[in-house]
Amino acid sequence: MSETRTTAPEEMTTSYGFQQVGDGEKQPLVNEVFHRVAKRYDMMNDIMSVGMHRVWKDALVSTLSPPKSGAANWISLDVAGGTGDVAFRIVEASDLHVHATVLDINSSMLGVGRERARKKKLLDNVSFVEANAEELPFANNGFDAYTIVFGIRNVPKIDKALSEAFRVLKPGGRFLCIEFSDVDMPILDKFYEQWSFKAIPPIGKIITGDSEPYQYLVESIRKFPNQESFATMIRSAGFERVTFRNYAGGIATLHSGWKI
Ligand SMILES: C[S@@+](CC[C@H](N)C(=O)[O-])C[C@H]1O[C@@H](n2cnc3c(N)ncnc32)[C@H](O)[C@@H]1O
Repeated sequence: MSETRTTAPEEMTTSYGFQQVGDGEKQPLVNEVFHRVAKRYDMMNDIMSVGMHRVWKDALVSTLSPPKSGAANWISLDVAGGTGDVAFRIVEASDLHVHATVLDINSSMLGVGRERARKKKLLDNVSFVEANAEELPFANNGFDAYTIVFGIRNVPKIDKALSEAFRVLKPGGRFLCIEFSDVDMPILDKFYEQWSFKAIPPIGKIITGDSEPYQYLVESIRKFPNQESFATMIRSAGFERVTFRNYAGGIATLHSGWKI
């Protein structure tokens, strides 16, 4: 069992939280987590992040700035999009002028997302695809934007997912990713540590009857590469002008890259 952050993509392939697993074993375990949490995912997201995930997702959308007119064919792909939160925000920010595809490997998460889209009357602008981020079922150079929010740490082969992101983006397309990262603020880091490991799993148990998925979620956050290591991986996939911006001292980080 190791609690240190990974620095290379291969290390994430065989780390399921703090457990070391065999090649090919991580994805089924991750899928089980999200099948178990799907129905309460959105509520738990608000509780675990004390609502901050909304602010961070809005910040990503305003960075992306989806067009509000004159771009009838502008399309974005939200990978590991789960219950559709980011795709809905992109479409709404464009005043329904763009199309967003939510891609996720998990049918339970997508099922919740589809139902939310129906209630929000967004089904004309949002579509749902069940597939693996490591093998996107799309042609080369098709999307204007690729987003992945709190998703990539769950994907076993990060380098494959990043090179797929590069492949499906149009030249000039933008990659944006939010992931939890290294907290670089004294006091906040201690508080965040206590909140993550001492509060979240028990709260998960009270609300969903199950603490194990939340134990995985907080452990996977701790294992994910820090800001610099992940930026290096994004560059290795071919992206240029790679930058990142920390939110809340690095609790979450927005990574950006361009396919030029
Ligand atoms: C923490 S949720 C994030 C959901 C959403 N992006 C959000 O921010 O609310 C992580 C998602 O990653 C998905 N996922 C895990 N492995 C995946 C893979 N290999 N390909 C696509 N999606 C994957 C899970 O099914 C889950 O829906």
